[in-house]
Amino acid sequence: PPLSTLINLDDFERAFEKTGSQKSQAYISGASNDLLTLNANRTLWQKLWFRPRVMRNVSNVSTKTRMMGCDVSMPVWICPMGIGKTAGSEGEKALAGGAASNGIVHCVSTTASFGVEDILASAPRTSPFFYQLYVDKQRHKTEELLRKLDGMHQIKALFVTVDLAVVSKREADERIRTQETVSVYSKITKSSIDKKGGGLARSTGSFIDPALSWNDLDWIRRHSNLPIIVKGIQSSADAKLAMEMKCAGIVVSNHGGRALDGSPGTVLILLEIRRDCPEVFGKMEVFIDGGIRRGSDVLKAICLGAKGVGVGRPFQCSISYGREGVEAVASILQDEIETAMRLCGIANLERIRGDVSWLNTSELE
Ligand code: FNR
Repeated sequence: PPLSTLINLDDFERAFEKTGSQKSQAYISGASNDLLTLNANRTLWQKLWFRPRVMRNVSNVSTKTRMMGCDVSMPVWICPMGIGKTAGSEGEKALAGGAASNGIVHCVSTTASFGVEDILASAPRTSPFFYQLYVDKQRHKTEELLRKLDGMHQIKALFVTVDLAVVSKREADERIRTQETVSVYSKITKSSIDKKGGGLARSTGSFIDPALSWNDLDWIRRHSNLPIIVKGIQSSADAKLAMEMKCAGIVVSNHGGRALDGSPGTVLILLEIRRDCPEVFGKMEVFIDGGIRRGSDVLKAICLGAKGVGVGRPFQCSISYGREGVEAVASILQDEIETAMRLCGIANLERIRGDVSWLNTSELE
């Protein structure tokens, strides 16, 4: 379908169902086991209701904010997603270019299909990026990577992903066995394709170190000056630990339902953190991702105290339209956030962050 006919984020995932290969679709839209967590992420945003106010002069609204010291046009970043070339030949270069032209930040995945230098070069030299780290079983490889990243001034934060100690069971991905795997991701060799199935996820994630522990944050700090954000926090106890370990931030995330099936929808985790250790919001930047598909979802997350949200699959699917597709997704979201703010009676995002009085959360309590 022509790009101009796509008017919401779901349209991009549906368009990709028509144009993408079966294998790419299985990899991108798929999740673990019975998709319980995938579905919960999405439906739980829909159980939060606004408490709108009227007649508050909303002719001018601003979605501008700061995340990790970066000025951004709206509180949305593009999630790290592996092997972007499965969605289109420009892969992560389209994400980088599209993010830059819309004033938002892309978090580059460790398993990106291009080298980080090439991805950064697809945006102006002043555009900020985040980098997502999977720690390698061969720790010296991670140390080398961190050394390289420290010299890259565009990278402003290190998102250390901790929710995927082992690659989960992605059944749609495993059912389709093809050699496409080898052509889209140069680091995969025929011998690294897992015997358990042709899963792209298993093949690309086999290097991840399940021995990773909280003490390793100090080891990362010895090899990197970047502020650390722990991505994949799924409980208030771990949010508290991250704060005690002096992390710069956390991402409340269950990997878009691609890690533990049965992990709570991320909204529930955010509510748990608000209840059990509200102090974390003052000490760290708290981000959230998973199932965010509407500007109104973004607004809800901000009312619950999030500094910003990550959006994954819709951006990945938009790569099939190149950079223009990525820009379109960002513009749609921006427009939806502004409209939701106006209709809710909120002129300024910064002033309502953490103010849960804008929401009725009773369906989730
Ligand atoms: C991911 N995700 C992910 N996360 C990460 O830390 N490193 C990675 O390499 C990947 N790879 C990846 C590939 C694909 C195709 C998807 C869909 C997701 C998880 C991602 O960063 C994010 O947490 C979720 O995608 C957010 O959920 P939504 O917005 O896709 O529902």
